[in-house]
Amino acid sequence: MNIRLETLADYAAVENLTREAFWNVYKPGADEHYFVHMMRSHETFIPELAFVLEKDGEIIGNIMYTKSWLADEAGEKKEIVSFGPICVAPEYQRQGHSKLLIEHSFEVAAKMGYEVVANFGNPGNYVGRGFVSCKKLNVCLRENNYPTALLVKELVPGVLNDKKWRFIPNDADACCEDAEAVAAFDARFPEKAKEWRPSQEEFYIYSHSSVVR
Ligand SMILES: CC(C)(COP(=O)(O)OP(=O)(O)OC[C@H]1O[C@@H](n2cnc3c(N)ncnc32)[C@H](O)[C@@H]1OP(=O)(O)O)[C@@H](O)C(=O)NCCC(=O)NCCS
Repeated sequence: MNIRLETLADYAAVENLTREAFWNVYKPGADEHYFVHMMRSHETFIPELAFVLEKDGEIIGNIMYTKSWLADEAGEKKEIVSFGPICVAPEYQRQGHSKLLIEHSFEVAAKMGYEVVANFGNPGNYVGRGFVSCKKLNVCLRENNYPTALLVKELVPGVLNDKKWRFIPNDADACCEDAEAVAAFDARFPEKAKEWRPSQEEFYIYSHSSVVR
């Protein structure tokens, strides 16, 4: 098992892996391979935190980060990082591989001086990595709005203490709103059936709910 930075030569393999891992998980089909394709040229992309996980020379997982921000009540902004997509090839899931990618990238992000990671995700995948509900660290998305899926990890323990914060995501994923562009990109890959899965309902529940107390 080897974790290393993504290179240009990995782009196609990573996009294919992303498509395989995300297919039918959050919607019938997937957008995330297009997101990966586009985000590398987004101004908030952090190439120093784009890692692939190799097993016997084959890429079986990856993680990518972008810059985002927290604003305090005075409007002062702190640059932080958000990860996603992260994925592991379906046949290698639930064996601790994302744990390796997340923990390695946290170490590098901390060395780069980043103090906080905040992103949206299914809590079950991330609470074991030290993420807590945004509500516990007083990080809202909008006034009094603490989405269930907004998870925060302090790379420097206590750094968010004693203040209220607002999470300011970047717009790197806005490209996925262009359904025609997503479909045109997906047409480059072998055809795959778009189907319903229970995970899509789970995603709906998480992405439409908030922590209220
Ligand atoms: C989400 C994903 C990246 C997790 O990778 P993974 O290598 O399978 O995850 P790990 O084995 O490291 O486990 C991560 C956590 O998932 C949970 N988990 C593990 N096995 C589980 C299972 N059978 N059922 C439910 N949750 C489980 C645990 O909380 C685990 O953390 P722990 O170390 O505290 O036990 C991977 O499943 C994937 O690629 N999914 C499709 C794409 C996706 O949803 N990406 C995330 C959104 S950006």
